[in-house]
Amino acid sequence: MTLPVDQFGENSEIAADLMQALAREELDFRLQPIVAAETGQIQGVELLLRWSRAGTEVGPDRFIPLAEASGCIVDIGYWVFEQACRVAVQLQEQFGEQTPYVALNLSSRQLDEADLAERLQQIMTSYGVRPERLLLEITESSLMTNLSQTRDMLAQLEALGLRLAVDDFGTGYSSLAQLVRLRPHTLKIDREFISGLNHCPESQQVVAAISRMARSLRLQVVAEGVETAEERGVVRAMGCGLIQGFLFHRPLSLADFLTLYGQVRAPAPQGLDFLIYISRAAVSPDAAMLQAILQPARAFNLSQGLSGFLFYFDNIFIQYLEGEGQVLERLYQSIQGDPRHWDVQEMARGQIDQRLFAGWEMGFQTLEGRLLRTQLGLADADQDYHQLLQKNPALCCSLFEAISQTSL
Ligand SMILES: Cc1cc2nc3c(=O)[nH]c(=O)nc-3n(C[C@H](O)[C@H](O)[C@H](O)COP(=O)(O)O)c2cc1C
Repeated sequence: MTLPVDQFGENSEIAADLMQALAREELDFRLQPIVAAETGQIQGVELLLRWSRAGTEVGPDRFIPLAEASGCIVDIGYWVFEQACRVAVQLQEQFGEQTPYVALNLSSRQLDEADLAERLQQIMTSYGVRPERLLLEITESSLMTNLSQTRDMLAQLEALGLRLAVDDFGTGYSSLAQLVRLRPHTLKIDREFISGLNHCPESQQVVAAISRMARSLRLQVVAEGVETAEERGVVRAMGCGLIQGFLFHRPLSLADFLTLYGQVRAPAPQGLDFLIYISRAAVSPDAAMLQAILQPARAFNLSQGLSGFLFYFDNIFIQYLEGEGQVLERLYQSIQGDPRHWDVQEMARGQIDQRLFAGWEMGFQTLEGRLLRTQLGLADADQDYHQLLQKNPALCCSLFEAISQTSL
């Protein structure tokens, strides 16, 4: 008969071994790439700590809390920071200036160390690392403990030029006021909201709200734990700029990461296209018919990472669509063959750096001609809008530019 494991006994043994882990050189790390949501290009890596206790891996979920409780997280934290500097230097030496940033975790316990900023500065100087190559990830819940002291320490770290990411965002109940005061560089949306996102309207609302807020505060957003193409489609369409997850890359050893980055670092083709067309409705659509177009269109666009805006007025449709080039082209072919409208004419097409309608799987407005006239700054009340827009692609573009600024 085996006796039940004494949780505390086992944990205290693990904690005691953890104290020795650094000296025994049992700690190691993996690098998980962070990629641009639109293109899949690697923009950064997160350094993830690994511990092999006498040859057996102990999960970070198990040993990090023990390291925090015993205080040895402070020394481990400095070791992690040194490894991040080492990786940043190696990337720069091997690939030059335009290399991925290195993100690393900082525990709330480390923020209590009065000389933290001084020590980190010393380590950066000894490795010759520029602070903007690094990103310090701090969980939302630890930011909210001991708020004023934390804020002072973060200000010191910021003064060194280090950038801050709020990790596990969405789970820690921080108030927006606190968030704005801390002025982080990046928000990482917790995987809890990403997993199964395409089937969960509540999570979609959370991700859309965080992305909208981040855009208005000019913060970067990373969606964590993206594992399927559908989840990627949704987070792209919501305007999350960066993605981390198994869909693209698992955590890799430094050697494997260097090989991978060497192979893929050539700039990927620009990944974001837009298209505007104008058409005439086959019959004047009522509200039910418009819904019959919009509802499936929104579901499809969301799953494919497309966003855009549709206007209907005076029997005219004018639509703006943006997303990955091939996906956009396939949809446009379906739209062209749709019997609910005719005389479909492409007005503008091209590549863009940024979405106009991030978070809008398909915005929609019906307009009275009168309102459109105001929107376009037109004087003549008797214009044939179809003819007018058709002759003037620049006007079509500025219509959507104007509406994207007023609606978001
Ligand atoms: C004015 C108009 C706009 C449309 N916009 C979209 C759209 O943004 N996304 C979408 O999936 N379908 C949209 N549709 C529906 C498509 O034309 C088509 O019915 C749908 O993609 C299904 O195509 P399929 O039957 O070839 O699979 C739109 C239709 C009309 C008439």
